[in-house]
Amino acid sequence: MIILIATEKPFAAAAVSGMKEIAAKAGHEVRLLEKYGSKDELLAAVADVDALIVRSDKVTAEVIAAAKELKIVVRAGAGYDNIDLEACTARNIVAMNTPGQNANAVAELAIAMMIFMSRNQFTPGTGSEIKGKKLGIQAYGNVGKLVAAKAIGMGMEVMAFDPYVPAETMENDGVVPASSLKQMYRECNFISLHIPATPQTKGSIGYDLITQMPVGGCLLNTARKEVINEAELDKALTDRPDIRYITDIAADMQSELNEKYGKRVFATPKKMGAETAEANINAGLAAASQIVDFFATGNTKFKVNK
Ligand code: 3PG
Repeated sequence: MIILIATEKPFAAAAVSGMKEIAAKAGHEVRLLEKYGSKDELLAAVADVDALIVRSDKVTAEVIAAAKELKIVVRAGAGYDNIDLEACTARNIVAMNTPGQNANAVAELAIAMMIFMSRNQFTPGTGSEIKGKKLGIQAYGNVGKLVAAKAIGMGMEVMAFDPYVPAETMENDGVVPASSLKQMYRECNFISLHIPATPQTKGSIGYDLITQMPVGGCLLNTARKEVINEAELDKALTDRPDIRYITDIAADMQSELNEKYGKRVFATPKKMGAETAEANINAGLAAASQIVDFFATGNTKFKVNK
């Protein structure tokens, strides 16, 4: 079988060589398309491949249509909002993710973001400590759980809201379950977003929630830009000159936000949550192993489409 690794944002070299080794051992051929500049390059590269490994690369219906031999696509990472699942299902193509494999890298970045904002973005002046502050975690999945544990270790009080996770699970981790999202926003100095981008969550973080935050509140986004209602974020930042926003996925209107709000907002230049060698290796190797296993045994444990 031919496996294509197509990553506009390349994996660390050690991840790529590990993936090649796993595939070669099972008798598969690996091709690599990195830092491609146009959709056409991707369309040409997928033409005869049986399997595809991507990161945030967009696997649209057009890509699926061009990939005539495709049987499986694996998103080496957590969020699979970049894959057209319906197009995969229509062609009987299995779509998978590699849940949890890059979670620690993202969780570490969320902690770093809190400290960065508490220390005036590392510029001179008196900052504050995160110890003793309250952190609210929106969605208690693989990343949320790790952020909670690290924050507790740093002396923070942690609250979480997740309608899909039993209160007992949070309590066992020393995390206070919030009775509502508004309650959590009202009580927490920091809110860290860990929700996927779905039709239900897109645009769901807006004025009403953001302005619940106490004085000096800071919203952290290592999830997806799409979950934010940008016009309402803008209005919240105007009406509440104490509130701050830091994101790992620049808003469409980021330059306008930067201009208007200066150091109260910050966006990383390119999404870097999962940009560690460890996360690349964990997610990349898992993706390769899942493909090898699928071809060998039909295992679809991490399938995300119907
Ligand atoms: C994910 O969903 O796994 C993260 O957002 C990482 O995305 P990336 O692989 O594009 O860095």
